[in-house]
Amino acid sequence: MAEIQAAFDLASLRPRLHKVMDFAADQLAKLTTNHPDFFPIYTRNGRWKHDGSLWTDWCAGFLGGQLWLLEEYSGESHWRELAEHYSLLLEYKQHDRDVHDLGFIFLNTYRPWYRRTGAKRLNNVLITAGRTLAMRFMENGQYLRSFVAPESLFIDIMMNVPIIFYAAEESGDQALYDKAVRHCRTTESTLVREDGSTAHEGIFDLKTGAFLRQTTHQGLNGESRWTRGLAWSLYGYAQVYQFTGDIQDLAVARRNADCFLNNLDDSWIAPWDFDAAAKHDRMPDTSASAIAASGLFTLADIIDEHDLTTALKYRRSALKMLEALTADGFMGWSSPGWEGILKRGVYHIHKKLGVDESVMWGEYFFLEAVMKALRIRENVREI
Ligand code: GLY
Repeated sequence: MAEIQAAFDLASLRPRLHKVMDFAADQLAKLTTNHPDFFPIYTRNGRWKHDGSLWTDWCAGFLGGQLWLLEEYSGESHWRELAEHYSLLLEYKQHDRDVHDLGFIFLNTYRPWYRRTGAKRLNNVLITAGRTLAMRFMENGQYLRSFVAPESLFIDIMMNVPIIFYAAEESGDQALYDKAVRHCRTTESTLVREDGSTAHEGIFDLKTGAFLRQTTHQGLNGESRWTRGLAWSLYGYAQVYQFTGDIQDLAVARRNADCFLNNLDDSWIAPWDFDAAAKHDRMPDTSASAIAASGLFTLADIIDEHDLTTALKYRRSALKMLEALTADGFMGWSSPGWEGILKRGVYHIHKKLGVDESVMWGEYFFLEAVMKALRIRENVREI
């Protein structure tokens, strides 16, 4: 178990975090220049452009999202133009009924764009995307169906349901809000386990709506603790709490966080599945650590006022994860010609897609977490 008690020396980490952002700028400049309007998912041997299968096309918002983060970091108009361009290319997806990933696509692109401009047109895109995602709601079973089948619920959808809450809040649509809440309660009762771990997928009886079993696509097996799914749940429920203010959502996020931290070892890097690691398969998934780190920063901010000790533990743990992730062995700069920022992610181990590679969501949540660490006030030397 990774333990954190001592204060974290933030001043020593800051130069490393700036180096990451500068490196990200170089890598993203090359990607957008060498492959204009191309939305990668994972690298193959460190290269973004290849003919490997997508499995599902869900990552387009992570490129625009990184460009918005670079715009915030640098303040340069060049990044703003690119961020707008790569966001605009996604606008048609607001009507896409084939994926459950509209939160990933729009919350990282149109939301920062709308926040900077206040333009109603941009907010309408977010609201429409939320309404489109809500059309996946299955009355029998009370969940948003995954992209694979009507009887399938994924833990990943917890990171997308915030766009339904957002749309409900912005439009005042109570029915939309209720659907989102019901999805969260169903996910909690079927996929989140007693110990705070999560299953990747739940299967329902379409006729009766009865829950049948936990299973997986990307984890070791239906009973295992796939780390990325756990990180999606942690961060997803934390964001949901920001909309609902319901302590039940916060409690799930905290249980997920404690499960994640209690199962990490002293490397602070998550294996792709905690149960695979228990069987000596310690292949890391840096993307799981990046998502968890960003989620822990959010969770720490939420609980700061009423549980300072736990908030401190979560924030320090997120910083320890960033310290580990920014070690040379995980950074693209240590492999000449590597096109990604963060190495050693895993997409789909069973299909052999993006294994030990850079993955687009890993890049996005890594930079998001780095930016959260950098936003901690400059005069704070220790956390
Ligand atoms: N399908 C989302 C993920 O790979 O985590």
